[in-house]
Parts: sequence; C-alpha cells; structure tokens
Amino acid sequence: MSLKKLVAGNWKMHGLSADLAEVMAIADASRQYPNVDVALCVPAILIERAARAVPGFAIGGQDVHYAEKGAHTGNISARMLLDAGAALTIVGHSERRDALRESDEEVKAKATAALSCGLNVILCVGESLEIREQGKAVATVEAQLGASLPDGIGSHAELAVAYEPIWAIGTGKVPTSPEIGEMHAAIRTRLRDRFGTAGEQVRILYGGSVKPSNAGEIFVIRDVDGALVGGASLKADDFMPIVAAAARVSLP
Ligand code: PGA
Repeated sequence: MSLKKLVAGNWKMHGLSADLAEVMAIADASRQYPNVDVALCVPAILIERAARAVPGFAIGGQDVHYAEKGAHTGNISARMLLDAGAALTIVGHSERRDALRESDEEVKAKATAALSCGLNVILCVGESLEIREQGKAVATVEAQLGASLPDGIGSHAELAVAYEPIWAIGTGKVPTSPEIGEMHAAIRTRLRDRFGTAGEQVRILYGGSVKPSNAGEIFVIRDVDGALVGGASLKADDFMPIVAAAARVSLP
C-alpha cells in the first residue's frame, strides 16, 4: 500500500519578509495537487507571518526544544511553535546534529515533546560519506533510529522520518536508486519493529539534492513516501515541479 506523499521544504537560514511572496506562490500552486501533502519549514521568525499569509497550508519550524518552558535562552518550545501557527517541525537535521552536537537522545526528546503537543514531526537521520564508504550506512542509520525514535506514536500528531545522507545535502550528489531503496526498506523494518502496524503508516522521506530533474526517479522507489527539500524549496519555480513529480506517481 502506498502512502500519500509529503513534500516538505526546509528553508534553513534563508528567507526575509520579501520572501513571503514565495510562500504564498507555493501554497497557492499546491492547491492543484490535492493528492500530495506540501509543507514549508521556514525560519522561526517567519512562521507566524507565513502561517497568517497562507491559512490551511502547512508551515513548520526547523527545530524545537524538548522542554515545555524554562531557562533555555534562544530556544523555542513546541507550544510556542503551535501558538505561532506551525503544524509541524523538523528535528535532528544533520546540520544541527553536527554543528550543535545534538545527540540521538536529545532528538528523541524533541520528537516526543513535539508529538505530544500535537505538532507533526519530520525526524532526520543519515550517514556521512566516510560511514557509507566503510559499508556501515544501514547499520548507522538503524542505530540512529533506535536511539532517536520516540517510544510511541499517538494518533493526534504524525511522525515522518527523513533519510538524508549527509554527503548528498547541498552537494548535487544523490545515492543510486538501489541505495535509497535499501535504506528506506531498512527504515520501514525498524519502524514496524518499533511501532507495529502503525509503523507502516509513518512516511519515509528522502532528502539530499532533490531537484526537479531527479525527483521523478526518486519518488518511484519503494518506501519513498516523499521528500525533504532544501535549496530547491526556496523558489516556487524549482519547488513546484518536485511537487508535480510526486503528484504524477500518486493516485488521483
Ligand atoms: P538540499 O538540502 O535539498 O539543499 O540538499 C536538503 C536538506 O538538508 O534537508
């Protein structure tokens, strides 16, 4: 059974007030593709304005703190994201795992806090080039999942997992289709082990240099239930062909 595809943009540290026009263009164009879920994870400071500008379209954050509130200078809680109008958040992106030394345990706590608050979560995992060259990519991602997946998934918020090989992010390099297929199958098995049949409903996104030119071949791979898109999500002209590619391989 195939799941409805989710194509989520990750704007990272890009986006000023003027770029709200792109958010509106993407939200507007996405209405043509009701068989695909589309979301944009924008910088925190844009969330509220973006959410107001495009009611009904999913705007997300790029990170969340695991605590409900407290002395955590510079951080944002799940309730704050929801309060600003966010519907989802990314957790565990490799750029944060690397630069901020975020551990699997911290990522798990963030995912758990966000889900229990009613925010949908995209939890990122992925291996470095060195690990892939050592033939340890699958084992490494399985270990990341083992330690960073929440213990349970309720019914009021949805978990998705994004497989993002670090060496493919922003580089123009993409794993082969069999490599993506092997990893997504391994992730599906882990999700089933952890959550039982509910693990079959968790969407598994691929991320790392997804472009209009390669999206079609990525979306037909088994257990690829969508994409997390960085650079190509900043402009409607680049992002919408990716959404259209997801729509083409989906049921009407
Ligand atoms: P990219 O980024 O599409 O620019 O490679 C993907 C990501 O980091 O989520």
